Amino acid sequence: MTRYDLALIGFGGVNRALAELIAERGDELAAELGFALRVVAITDLRAGSLVRGDGVDLAPLLAVAPRELDFSRMEGGSAEPRNEQVIRHVPADVVVEATFTNPDDGEPAVSHVRWALEAGKHVCTTNKGPVALHGRALRELARRNGVRFECEGSVLSGTPVLRTARRMFGGLRVSAVEGVMNGTSNYILGRLESGLGFADAVAEAQALGYAEADPTADVEGHDVQLKVMILANEVLGAELRRSDVPCVGISGITASQVREAAARGLRWKLVGSAARRPDGTVEARVAPVALPGGHPLAGVSGPVNAVAFHTDLLGTVTVSGPGAGRVETAYALLSDLISIHQAAGERVREEAYVG
Ligand SMILES: NC(=O)c1ccc[n+]([C@@H]2O[C@H](COP(=O)([O-])OP(=O)(O)OC[C@H]3O[C@@H](n4cnc5c(N)ncnc54)[C@H](OP(=O)(O)O)[C@@H]3O)[C@@H](O)[C@H]2O)c1
Repeated sequence: MTRYDLALIGFGGVNRALAELIAERGDELAAELGFALRVVAITDLRAGSLVRGDGVDLAPLLAVAPRELDFSRMEGGSAEPRNEQVIRHVPADVVVEATFTNPDDGEPAVSHVRWALEAGKHVCTTNKGPVALHGRALRELARRNGVRFECEGSVLSGTPVLRTARRMFGGLRVSAVEGVMNGTSNYILGRLESGLGFADAVAEAQALGYAEADPTADVEGHDVQLKVMILANEVLGAELRRSDVPCVGISGITASQVREAAARGLRWKLVGSAARRPDGTVEARVAPVALPGGHPLAGVSGPVNAVAFHTDLLGTVTVSGPGAGRVETAYALLSDLISIHQAAGERVREEAYVG
C-alpha cells in the first residue's frame, strides 16, 4: 500500500489534531482511502524538533500535555525548531505547514512552503499567509517541481469551499463570491442582536474561547480580508494584494443599529466579497452589511460560516459548515492528503495512457 511520510511544521492545535487522527484512526483510514500516513518529523517553536526515519511513535508523544512537550528529551530530538534542515533534508513526502498566520508578509510560513516545494515535497497548509499573499507563485513553484500545493484549510477549516469550486464547478462561470467567514464576529453580532452591548459581547466571546485575548484580527476584519484574497485569487483568478481589498470591521456597529435592522427583517453580517467587473478585473472588500432575510448568508450564525458562489448556469451555490476548530481544520489537511493521493493516481493513469 502507498504510504506518505509527513513532516509536521508547527505542533499546535491543528497539527496535533492531525497527529491524533493518524494515531487513533490511521488503520481505518488506510483501509478506506488506500494509503497510509506516517509522521517522520515534527518541528515546533516551543517543543523543538523530532526526526524519526522509522516513524514517530505518536501515542506516547500525544499523552504529554502540549506545554510540557520537549523533543530534546527524546531519541532523534533537539531543542531547536530546525525547520529549514527538516523541510529540506528529511526524506518526507509531504510537508504539513501549520505555524502562525502572518498577515503582513506571510513569513516564516512562506519560506517553509518554498523550501519544501524546492525540495520536491508536496505541501498542505492551513496557514492563510502563504496562500493569500503568495498563492500564485507557490502554485507555479509546485508545478515546476512536479508536486502539489494544497490549502483547503485556509478558508473555512475543513468545509470544502476551495475544493468545491475547483473540482465541482467545471463549465460554470463564477461571477462573484461572498462569505460570512469569521465565527467570532458572527457570534458578537448575534449577541448584539439579543441585546448585549459591543464590549460585553466581545468579553463574552473571549470568556467562551471564541475570541482571542486580542480580538483585533477578527473584529476589524483582517482575518476575513485574507480569506477574500484567497477566494478572489483561487476562484476568480485575480491577483489581489491586501491594499486592493478595503476592509471595515464590526467595531463601528452598535447594538441599537443591529436591533433596529432586525426589527425590519435585516441581519448584520461581516461579509467578505469579490466580484468580477465587466472588464474582467476583480474588485473585493470586507464590510459589515445588513442582509435581507432571504439572502443565503443571512441565516448563517455563530460558529457556522458560509460562502456563496454566484454562477451563470446554477445561480447561487452556497457551501456552509464549521469555520474553524482544531479537529475541523485537521480534516482539511486530511482532505489535502487525499487530493495529493488522487492526483498521483491520475498522473500514473495518464503516463500509462501516453506510454
Ligand atoms: N485553529 C483553527 O481553527 C484554524 C482554522 C483555520 C486555519 N488555521 C490556521 O492554521 C495554522 C495553525 O493553527 P493552530 O490553531 O494550530 O495554531 P497554534 O495552536 O497557535 O499552533 C501553531 C504552532 O506553531 C508553532 N510555531 C510558530 N512559529 C513557528 C515556527 N517558526 N517554527 C515552528 N513552529 C512554529 C507555535 O509555537 P508557539 O505556540 O510557541 O508560538 C504553535 O505551537 C495557523 O496559521 C492558523 O491561522 C487555524
